[in-house]
Parts: sequence; C-alpha cells; structure tokens
Amino acid sequence: MFSVALSSVLVMGAAFAAAQSTTEPALPPGMSTYPDVPHASKTFAFEDLPYRIDDSTHLIRGNQHGYNICNDTTAGQDSLCQTSHFNSIDDFCLWAPPDFGRTIGDIEGIMVAWCTKPGHGTRLIPEGAITGLQWITTPDYVQAVGFIDQTLINVLADDSGGEMDPHGADLRGNPMGGIVYSNAWTGAPTQVIEWHLFLGSGRFCYKACDPRGRFDDRYCEHILDRIGCDYNVPNRAQDGVFEQCLGDNQDFPGVYTTNGVVMTYTQPAGDLGDIGFSPMTPSSSSCTQFESAALFSGLPTGVSPGSSTTSEDARPTGSGGVSSRRSTGTPSPSQTAGGAQNSQGSSASKTAALSGAALVGAVLSAVFLA
Ligand SMILES: *[C@@H]1O[C@H](CO)[C@@H](O)[C@H](O)[C@H]1NC(C)=O
Repeated sequence: MFSVALSSVLVMGAAFAAAQSTTEPALPPGMSTYPDVPHASKTFAFEDLPYRIDDSTHLIRGNQHGYNICNDTTAGQDSLCQTSHFNSIDDFCLWAPPDFGRTIGDIEGIMVAWCTKPGHGTRLIPEGAITGLQWITTPDYVQAVGFIDQTLINVLADDSGGEMDPHGADLRGNPMGGIVYSNAWTGAPTQVIEWHLFLGSGRFCYKACDPRGRFDDRYCEHILDRIGCDYNVPNRAQDGVFEQCLGDNQDFPGVYTTNGVVMTYTQPAGDLGDIGFSPMTPSSSSCTQFESAALFSGLPTGVSPGSSTTSEDARPTGSGGVSSRRSTGTPSPSQTAGGAQNSQGSSASKTAALSGAALVGAVLSAVFLA
C-alpha cells in the first residue's frame, strides 16, 4: 500500500533511507522496523502454531493485533483470530477489519479472519454477504473471486481497499501475524507461503499458491498492489453466480505478451496513467454451479454498520452480527491506492487523526505498509 515504486529493491531502499537519513525523524528509543525473521519465512505445522506468530514488542508498526491459536473459545463475531483457511468454495476465510470505521489502507496490519464456515475459531462472513463467487483450481494455485457486501465485514462502503499479503515493506505481513493454511493440495492443512488478497469496491480476489510450486512467489506476486484484481487475478467471475472450476495458470501478474514479445509491467511511483496492457484471462473448464444457500450454512445474519443511523456511541452490536469492538492497534495512515479495483487517480493520502505519541511511528509506518 505504498504509492512509490514497489520493486522490493526500491522499497528496501526507501525503508532504509527513512530509517537512516539524518533528515528523517529518528525511530523512538528502543524501537526498530524489521523483525528478526521476515514473516513470510516463518513456517509452522498447523498443530504447532504459537499463540502469536509475531511476538515482537519493539517494532514501529506495533504488536500483532490478534492471535494464532484459534478454537471454540475464540470463535464468534469479536474473534481476533489471525489464522486463516483457504480450502474450497464453501470453506475459506478473508482478511477484514476487526472493527468498522477505518479504511483498509489504515488497518491492513490488524486484519482478522472472517470465514465462510464455522469451526475455525474465527468470525463468520454473514449470510448473504457474498453475492457471487468463483473458485478455480489450477496447476499452481487455488483462487477465489467474489462479490460481497463489504460493509458486512467491517469494510467502509466506499473503500476501494488494498492488498493483503505475507510481506509488507517492513516484512511483517499484512495482517501482521496473519497466516494461511489450505487443505487443497494434500487434504491436510498446509501452510500457504505465498498468497495475496485484494479486497475493496465490493469485490475480493484471493489467490493461494501451492507451496510445492517453483513459482509460487510469482503467481502470488505482492508488488503490484495498486492495479487490483483485474491485473493480479484476471478472471471471469460474475455476480450472482456461484461456481467452481478447473483452470489454467494465468501469466505471472504484470507479465504479458505483445506481438510475440514477453513484457513485464512496472508499477510507477506516481499516477498510474494508462496501464498499457490487458492481462490474459486463463481459460477454465469443468465448472459446477451452486445455489449460494447450499454452499453456506451456519452463518450469522449481518448488520451493516454503515447503514446504522445510531450515533458513534451506540455502535451496533448486531445479534450475531458484526462486531463493534474497538481496535487498539497503532494507527497506520497509508497512502491508499487501488485495491480490488485498479485506481487510476493519484493516490490521495488519507491521513488518519493521530495522537501525538503515535505521530512519529505512524509517519514512518506509512512507508512500511506495502
Ligand atoms: C483455545 O484457544 C485459546 C486462545 O488462543 C488458548 O488459550 C487455548 O489454550 C486453546 N485451547 C485449546 C484446548 O487448545
């Protein structure tokens, strides 16, 4: 979610410049930027998950918001479970805000798991929130593209959103401590090392790359965070249709062929301008369609916080609905950019209200949100 060029080299360069330049504010005493081990390099058997994957307490973006041991005692619409599953068309979780009121760009670091099926110790995506869904299994990844009333999972109605992935410019992941497992390949929960989720503008597209694949980092690229679903997850999903299909692999995000020449797109630092290519949408086959009601059961009814006419102090609690729990996470203003939808406009900075103490950290953390 950082609007400057996002090749990892440039991001690291910017991060070090921010951390080391004498003209930039120094980190507060005792604080630093990077974890000892990058989030995406941590691996855990599902049975061996620690309470918190990210146990650092001295890093500029704050502590992990939730936890990773999730069970019946953590299930419910105020769960802060950050262990996610991505198994099948009727059993997957999105990352979405723990509370309503801030943009994805501001709180992507503290997202929690919202699932389609009870049993994972998480929140549940309310009944009817997903209005169309396509699940595709390809040689190198599984993918879900959906249409959603995003207010039912605490996303602001007009939020064009952003990208979640296990990297981030400070290598702590978004969400920090968020981990994904899938049983799609072996039948048992396997840690998904490379994944990306674009959520916003009433859509989501989520790809989990088979960790046994040689190119899982390419198919689940994490540096094209501003050009959204259409470029990172080209698809033919339709609102109102629930289907699962087999599919071919897409081209690596950002890679395309023009007149027989293979080209690689680089996301610019400033205005996206004309992106200049249309990605190939891979063909799919063997599609099976479902009634949504047949796919999902045991879901709570949702209450859209955005539709509430009550005051700020009387936030909806919703009968089994959307949590009203207030976040205690460190504010992380972000230069928001394209999420599920590619954003052609300049990435207007939405600066959150900051408490004085959080200011230095928040300004720095804006650099580390990619
Ligand atoms: C259930 O989860 C909670 C919270 O993470 C944890 O403290 C507890 O030990 C877990 N219970 C079991 C039986 O694993």
